[in-house]
Amino acid sequence: MVIDIYKNKGEYPEPRLPQIEHSNILKGQKALVTGANSGIGKSVALGLAKAGADVVINYVVDNDNTVDQMIKEMQGYGAEAMGFQADVSQEDQVKPMFEAMFKKFGTIDILVNNAGIQRDAPIDQMTLSQWQQVIGVNLTGQFLCAREAVKEFKRRGVVEAVSCAAGKIICMSSVHEVIPWAGHVNYAASKGGIMQLMKSIAQEVAPYRIRVNSIGPGAIKTPINHAAWATPEAEKALLTLIPYQRVGVPDDIARVAVWLASDLADYITGTTIFVDGGMTLYPGFATGG
Ligand code: BGC
Repeated sequence: MVIDIYKNKGEYPEPRLPQIEHSNILKGQKALVTGANSGIGKSVALGLAKAGADVVINYVVDNDNTVDQMIKEMQGYGAEAMGFQADVSQEDQVKPMFEAMFKKFGTIDILVNNAGIQRDAPIDQMTLSQWQQVIGVNLTGQFLCAREAVKEFKRRGVVEAVSCAAGKIICMSSVHEVIPWAGHVNYAASKGGIMQLMKSIAQEVAPYRIRVNSIGPGAIKTPINHAAWATPEAEKALLTLIPYQRVGVPDDIARVAVWLASDLADYITGTTIFVDGGMTLYPGFATGG
Protein backbone atom coordinates (compact mmCIF):
# COMPACT_ATOMS: atom_id res chain seq x y z
CA MET A 1 0.00 0.00 0.00
CA VAL A 2 1.29 3.49 -0.83
CA ILE A 3 0.80 5.90 2.04
CA ASP A 4 -0.10 9.42 0.92
CA ILE A 5 2.13 11.30 3.33
CA TYR A 6 1.68 14.44 1.29
CA LYS A 7 -2.07 14.80 1.71
CA ASN A 8 -1.75 18.26 3.28
CA LYS A 9 0.32 19.48 0.37
CA GLY A 10 -0.16 23.13 -0.49
CA GLU A 11 -2.58 23.78 2.37
CA TYR A 12 -0.27 25.81 4.57
CA PRO A 13 -0.58 29.60 4.90
CA GLU A 14 2.56 31.75 4.54
CA PRO A 15 4.32 31.42 7.91
CA ARG A 16 4.97 34.42 10.13
CA LEU A 17 8.72 34.01 10.53
CA PRO A 18 10.57 35.72 13.38
CA GLN A 19 12.70 38.76 12.52
CA ILE A 20 16.36 38.93 13.49
CA GLU A 21 16.48 40.84 16.78
CA HIS A 22 18.28 44.14 16.95
CA SER A 23 20.96 43.03 19.42
CA ASN A 24 24.57 43.16 20.59
CA ILE A 25 25.35 39.53 19.92
CA LEU A 26 28.01 40.48 17.33
CA LYS A 27 28.93 43.85 18.84
CA GLY A 28 32.45 45.02 18.02
CA GLN A 29 32.88 42.41 15.27
CA LYS A 30 33.91 43.31 11.75
CA ALA A 31 32.27 41.34 8.96
CA LEU A 32 32.81 41.06 5.22
CA VAL A 33 30.00 39.60 3.11
CA THR A 34 30.72 38.87 -0.55
CA GLY A 35 27.97 39.24 -3.13
CA ALA A 36 26.13 41.24 -0.50
CA ASN A 37 23.84 43.54 -2.49
CA SER A 38 21.21 40.99 -3.49
CA GLY A 39 19.54 37.74 -2.52
CA ILE A 40 20.93 35.72 0.37
CA GLY A 41 24.02 37.93 0.75
CA LYS A 42 21.92 41.05 1.26
CA SER A 43 19.81 39.46 4.01
CA VAL A 44 22.88 38.03 5.72
CA ALA A 45 24.73 41.38 5.62
CA LEU A 46 21.72 43.25 7.07
CA GLY A 47 21.24 40.52 9.68
CA LEU A 48 24.86 40.77 10.85
CA ALA A 49 24.54 44.56 11.15
CA LYS A 50 21.29 44.21 13.10
CA ALA A 51 23.15 41.88 15.46
CA GLY A 52 25.79 44.56 16.07
CA ALA A 53 28.55 43.88 13.51
CA ASP A 54 30.18 46.50 11.30
CA VAL A 55 29.91 45.30 7.71
CA VAL A 56 31.71 45.50 4.36
CA ILE A 57 29.22 45.02 1.55
CA ASN A 58 31.07 43.48 -1.38
CA TYR A 59 29.38 43.70 -4.77
CA VAL A 60 30.13 43.55 -8.50
CA VAL A 61 27.30 45.54 -10.10
CA ASP A 62 25.01 47.92 -8.23
CA ASN A 63 22.72 49.63 -10.72
CA ASP A 64 19.94 50.54 -8.33
CA ASN A 65 21.82 52.08 -5.36
CA THR A 66 21.13 49.05 -3.19
CA VAL A 67 24.52 49.40 -1.52
CA ASP A 68 23.83 52.99 -0.40
CA GLN A 69 20.40 52.02 0.89
CA MET A 70 21.93 49.12 2.81
CA ILE A 71 24.59 51.37 4.34
CA LYS A 72 21.87 53.74 5.57
CA GLU A 73 19.82 50.88 6.99
CA MET A 74 22.90 49.49 8.77
CA GLN A 75 23.75 52.90 10.20
CA GLY A 76 20.21 52.99 11.56
CA TYR A 77 21.09 49.84 13.54
CA GLY A 78 24.14 51.68 14.95
CA ALA A 79 26.56 49.74 12.73
CA GLU A 80 29.32 51.12 10.53
CA ALA A 81 29.20 50.00 6.93
CA MET A 82 31.03 50.43 3.63
CA GLY A 83 30.60 49.11 0.12
CA PHE A 84 33.47 47.67 -1.92
CA GLN A 85 33.30 46.70 -5.58
CA ALA A 86 35.37 43.63 -6.37
CA ASP A 87 35.12 40.46 -8.42
CA VAL A 88 36.09 37.77 -5.88
CA SER A 89 37.49 35.53 -8.62
CA GLN A 90 40.30 38.06 -9.21
CA GLU A 91 43.22 38.03 -6.79
CA ASP A 92 44.14 41.62 -7.68
CA GLN A 93 40.67 42.77 -6.63
CA VAL A 94 40.34 40.65 -3.49
CA LYS A 95 43.57 41.87 -1.88
CA PRO A 96 42.69 45.60 -2.16
CA MET A 97 39.25 44.81 -0.72
CA PHE A 98 40.79 43.35 2.44
CA GLU A 99 43.27 46.24 2.62
CA ALA A 100 40.40 48.75 2.42
CA MET A 101 38.52 46.86 5.12
CA PHE A 102 41.54 46.81 7.46
CA LYS A 103 42.08 50.53 6.83
CA LYS A 104 38.50 51.36 7.81
CA PHE A 105 37.73 48.71 10.44
CA GLY A 106 41.22 47.59 11.56
CA THR A 107 40.59 43.86 11.23
CA ILE A 108 38.12 41.11 10.29
CA ASP A 109 36.21 38.76 12.60
CA ILE A 110 33.61 37.27 10.25
CA LEU A 111 33.91 36.38 6.57
CA VAL A 112 30.76 35.28 4.75
CA ASN A 113 31.89 33.76 1.46
CA ASN A 114 28.56 34.22 -0.26
CA ALA A 115 29.15 35.38 -3.85
CA GLY A 116 27.89 32.79 -6.29
CA ILE A 117 26.65 32.52 -9.87
CA GLN A 118 25.01 30.01 -12.18
CA ARG A 119 25.77 29.60 -15.90
CA ASP A 120 23.61 26.63 -16.81
CA ALA A 121 23.94 24.41 -19.90
CA PRO A 122 23.80 20.72 -20.80
CA ILE A 123 27.28 19.20 -20.48
CA ASP A 124 27.73 18.76 -24.23
CA GLN A 125 26.92 22.44 -24.80
CA MET A 126 28.66 23.97 -21.81
CA THR A 127 31.45 26.30 -22.86
CA LEU A 128 34.81 26.47 -21.13
CA SER A 129 33.95 30.06 -20.27
CA GLN A 130 30.72 28.97 -18.49
CA TRP A 131 32.70 26.37 -16.58
CA GLN A 132 35.49 28.76 -15.64
CA GLN A 133 33.22 31.65 -14.63
CA VAL A 134 31.31 29.48 -12.16
CA ILE A 135 34.38 27.76 -10.71
CA GLY A 136 36.12 31.16 -10.62
CA VAL A 137 33.49 32.99 -8.57
CA ASN A 138 32.02 30.14 -6.53
CA LEU A 139 35.18 28.19 -5.65
CA THR A 140 38.33 30.22 -6.39
CA GLY A 141 36.60 33.30 -4.96
CA GLN A 142 35.96 31.49 -1.69
CA PHE A 143 39.60 30.33 -1.57
CA LEU A 144 40.98 33.83 -2.23
CA CYS A 145 38.81 35.49 0.44
CA ALA A 146 39.34 32.70 3.00
CA ARG A 147 43.11 32.99 2.54
CA GLU A 148 43.14 36.72 3.28
CA ALA A 149 40.80 36.29 6.26
CA VAL A 150 42.85 33.45 7.78
CA LYS A 151 46.07 35.50 7.48
CA GLU A 152 44.46 38.24 9.57
CA PHE A 153 42.81 35.84 12.06
CA LYS A 154 46.19 34.18 12.70
CA ARG A 155 48.03 37.50 12.97
CA ARG A 156 45.56 38.91 15.49
CA GLY A 157 44.45 35.84 17.43
CA VAL A 158 41.60 35.73 19.92
CA VAL A 159 40.43 39.01 21.43
CA GLU A 160 38.36 37.80 24.36
CA ALA A 161 36.30 40.96 24.67
CA VAL A 162 35.12 40.47 21.08
CA SER A 163 34.64 36.71 20.57
CA CYS A 164 35.75 33.31 21.89
CA ALA A 165 37.14 32.59 18.41
CA ALA A 166 39.98 34.23 16.47
CA GLY A 167 37.69 34.32 13.45
CA LYS A 168 34.74 32.76 11.73
CA ILE A 169 34.27 31.85 8.07
CA ILE A 170 30.87 30.94 6.71
CA CYS A 171 30.91 29.46 3.21
CA MET A 172 27.64 29.71 1.29
CA SER A 173 27.34 26.26 -0.23
CA SER A 174 24.15 24.61 -1.48
CA VAL A 175 22.17 21.41 -1.30
CA HIS A 176 24.10 20.75 -4.50
CA GLU A 177 27.25 20.00 -2.53
CA VAL A 178 25.57 16.59 -2.12
CA ILE A 179 22.70 16.50 -4.65
CA PRO A 180 23.90 16.01 -8.24
CA TRP A 181 22.35 18.51 -10.67
CA ALA A 182 21.96 17.65 -14.35
CA GLY A 183 22.39 20.67 -16.60
CA HIS A 184 24.40 22.46 -13.91
CA VAL A 185 27.62 20.45 -13.66
CA ASN A 186 29.78 23.56 -13.23
CA TYR A 187 27.63 24.76 -10.32
CA ALA A 188 27.36 21.36 -8.61
CA ALA A 189 31.13 20.80 -9.01
CA SER A 190 31.82 24.21 -7.45
CA LYS A 191 29.59 23.43 -4.46
CA GLY A 192 31.06 19.94 -4.00
CA GLY A 193 34.46 21.65 -4.07
CA ILE A 194 33.36 24.16 -1.43
CA MET A 195 32.56 21.27 0.90
CA GLN A 196 36.15 19.97 0.88
CA LEU A 197 37.60 23.49 0.82
CA MET A 198 35.59 24.33 3.95
CA LYS A 199 36.37 21.07 5.78
CA SER A 200 40.08 21.12 4.94
CA ILE A 201 40.52 24.74 6.02
CA ALA A 202 38.51 23.98 9.17
CA GLN A 203 40.80 21.06 10.01
CA GLU A 204 43.91 23.14 9.36
CA VAL A 205 42.99 26.22 11.37
CA ALA A 206 40.93 24.83 14.27
CA PRO A 207 43.99 24.93 16.60
CA TYR A 208 44.10 28.70 16.05
CA ARG A 209 40.49 28.91 17.28
CA ILE A 210 39.23 29.75 13.80
CA ARG A 211 35.84 28.25 12.95
CA VAL A 212 34.95 27.41 9.36
CA ASN A 213 31.51 26.16 8.39
CA SER A 214 29.09 26.12 5.49
CA ILE A 215 25.43 26.83 5.11
CA GLY A 216 23.75 24.70 2.44
CA PRO A 217 20.64 26.52 1.26
CA GLY A 218 17.97 24.68 -0.67
CA ALA A 219 15.55 26.58 -2.89
CA ILE A 220 15.44 30.15 -1.59
CA LYS A 221 13.48 32.90 -3.37
CA THR A 222 16.26 35.04 -4.89
CA PRO A 223 17.12 36.35 -8.37
CA ILE A 224 19.41 33.34 -9.06
CA ASN A 225 16.46 30.93 -9.33
CA HIS A 226 13.62 33.34 -10.15
CA ALA A 227 12.23 31.13 -12.93
CA ALA A 228 11.88 28.21 -10.48
CA TRP A 229 9.31 29.99 -8.25
CA ALA A 230 8.03 33.01 -10.19
CA THR A 231 4.75 31.44 -11.38
CA PRO A 232 2.29 29.29 -9.35
CA GLU A 233 2.96 26.35 -11.72
CA ALA A 234 6.72 26.63 -11.27
CA GLU A 235 6.38 26.94 -7.50
CA LYS A 236 4.12 23.86 -7.39
CA ALA A 237 6.70 21.84 -9.32
CA LEU A 238 9.45 23.09 -7.01
CA LEU A 239 7.46 22.06 -3.94
CA THR A 240 7.61 18.41 -5.04
CA LEU A 241 11.31 18.64 -4.07
CA ILE A 242 10.66 20.26 -0.68
CA PRO A 243 9.08 18.04 2.01
CA TYR A 244 8.46 21.06 4.29
CA GLN A 245 6.20 22.49 1.58
CA ARG A 246 7.40 26.03 1.35
CA VAL A 247 10.08 27.73 -0.71
CA GLY A 248 12.66 29.40 1.53
CA VAL A 249 13.28 33.14 1.86
CA PRO A 250 16.65 34.87 2.33
CA ASP A 251 15.99 35.55 6.02
CA ASP A 252 15.82 31.78 6.63
CA ILE A 253 19.52 31.79 5.80
CA ALA A 254 20.35 35.08 7.56
CA ARG A 255 19.00 33.83 10.91
CA VAL A 256 21.32 30.81 10.73
CA ALA A 257 24.30 32.90 9.57
CA VAL A 258 23.96 35.32 12.50
CA TRP A 259 23.81 32.47 14.98
CA LEU A 260 26.66 30.53 13.32
CA ALA A 261 28.89 33.62 13.36
CA SER A 262 28.16 34.24 17.04
CA ASP A 263 29.68 32.63 20.12
CA LEU A 264 26.38 30.75 20.59
CA ALA A 265 27.82 28.39 17.96
CA ASP A 266 31.37 28.40 19.40
CA TYR A 267 31.93 24.61 19.32
CA ILE A 268 30.82 24.21 15.71
CA THR A 269 33.47 23.88 13.01
CA GLY A 270 33.86 21.89 9.81
CA THR A 271 30.14 21.36 9.31
CA THR A 272 27.54 22.15 6.67
CA ILE A 273 24.18 23.18 8.04
CA PHE A 274 21.54 22.51 5.40
CA VAL A 275 18.72 25.02 5.46
CA ASP A 276 16.51 23.44 2.85
CA GLY A 277 13.07 22.40 4.13
CA GLY A 278 14.21 18.80 3.76
CA MET A 279 15.38 18.94 0.14
CA THR A 280 18.36 16.73 1.04
CA LEU A 281 16.01 14.03 2.43
CA TYR A 282 15.50 12.43 -1.02
CA PRO A 283 11.77 13.30 -1.14
CA GLY A 284 11.33 11.02 -4.17
CA PHE A 285 11.69 8.08 -1.76
CA ALA A 286 8.88 9.28 0.56
CA THR A 287 6.38 7.05 -1.20
CA GLY A 288 8.55 4.53 -3.01
CA GLY A 289 11.83 2.67 -3.12
C1 BGC B 1 20.58 27.10 -6.61
C2 BGC B 1 19.13 27.38 -6.95
C3 BGC B 1 18.29 26.14 -6.74
C4 BGC B 1 18.55 25.50 -5.39
C5 BGC B 1 17.84 24.18 -5.22
C6 BGC B 1 20.65 26.54 -5.23
O1 BGC B 1 21.96 26.33 -4.83
O2 BGC B 1 21.34 28.30 -6.73
O3 BGC B 1 19.02 27.83 -8.28
O4 BGC B 1 16.91 26.47 -6.85
O5 BGC B 1 19.93 25.31 -5.21
O6 BGC B 1 17.99 23.34 -6.33
